[in-house]
Amino acid sequence: MPHKIAALRVEPLGTQIRKSSQIGAEVILPDSMKIFNPQALTEDDTQLLRQALFDHGVLVIRNQLGVAPGVLYDIAKVFDSQAQNVHSGGKTQVTDPKNILSQNNCSRIQRAPQVTIIGQGRIEDYEGISLLQLKHLDQSSFHEHPLSDDEIEKGYTRPYRWHMDAPLYESLPGFVTSIHAIEVPQVPDQQLQFPEGQSMPIAAGSTIFFSGARNFELLSPEEQEFACNTTVQYAPRAYEWIRDCKASADGLTIETKGREKNLDELAEWTWDKVQSFPMVWENHGNGKPHLQILGCCVYSLTTTDPATGKSTVIDDIDEVRRICHALQSKVYAPENVFAHRWEQGDLVMFHNRGLLHSISGQLSKYPDRRLLWQCSMASGASPKAYKNTKA
Ligand SMILES: [Fe+2]
Repeated sequence: MPHKIAALRVEPLGTQIRKSSQIGAEVILPDSMKIFNPQALTEDDTQLLRQALFDHGVLVIRNQLGVAPGVLYDIAKVFDSQAQNVHSGGKTQVTDPKNILSQNNCSRIQRAPQVTIIGQGRIEDYEGISLLQLKHLDQSSFHEHPLSDDEIEKGYTRPYRWHMDAPLYESLPGFVTSIHAIEVPQVPDQQLQFPEGQSMPIAAGSTIFFSGARNFELLSPEEQEFACNTTVQYAPRAYEWIRDCKASADGLTIETKGREKNLDELAEWTWDKVQSFPMVWENHGNGKPHLQILGCCVYSLTTTDPATGKSTVIDDIDEVRRICHALQSKVYAPENVFAHRWEQGDLVMFHNRGLLHSISGQLSKYPDRRLLWQCSMASGASPKAYKNTKA
């Protein structure tokens, strides 16, 4: 009798971790595979993995130190038949100081230019780079009313900025983002702060997630119908446009208007490359509706009355932000937030088109280093609008 090789398994995380978030599963590799190699999976294992990402949002494979950086972009091809061979942020890292995406000082890996090195602290002679001064961004540099010194002393933290990995210009967002943890700081747990005095204990530096599907469930029938009939127009060069803006305490939107750049101050752009997406995206794996809005970067909304077919453009930026925030803030509660507690060696894959995610954690006062690889490949496929057949 030939020895039966154990297949890949997917184990949803415990309900005390998942709560109502609908997020989180661990992937146990087949016996024959210690380090993940998506190209060596059987067709059945590949299908199981693909479905698990679309159903559980965040997958973790433990103990993956030694994985080649190229595996991070092989992962994109498992989930996206139209994955491009380039990071969704472009061929090279954004270094323009006018763009807020350059503020973490991260860098690409020379032998795998689709993979970005992110983290915290000074790293010398790494991957052919003589010196990296990585910066873990936190709410203090981006929130309109950041945590006080006293609150930080008490261990509070907040979401820096909820987002999808999406440049919102030219390149379409990837289906999956993969992150591999090489060094993890040993820092005491912190408290994620919510409105009205609630908090949630999380590991310092957790990547935090909420599900667009859970968010959609929490909307009223009227809000669901509005969302399904609305398109979100993002700003031209959105990350430059908001570079002087400050966020609300929940990290979902910009708090006050008035600091946006004038459109003629931005790097060259044309409207045909500026992206607009449906407000509700259909999950490629299970057909569920996901409310997907990158709230800090919205510019205008176009909504269609299903009864008359008449479209209305909402372009008062205060009103646009108020509408999006009213929908998304319904999900920002401890029971709906999944926090990934990083362990050295973790390889995490998350469904970028079905979740919103954010950095959290106040790490800057600690000497511990943090070193991660991140990869989010551009896609050739536009997000698919969810059609609400009940409407
Ligand atoms: Fe991200």
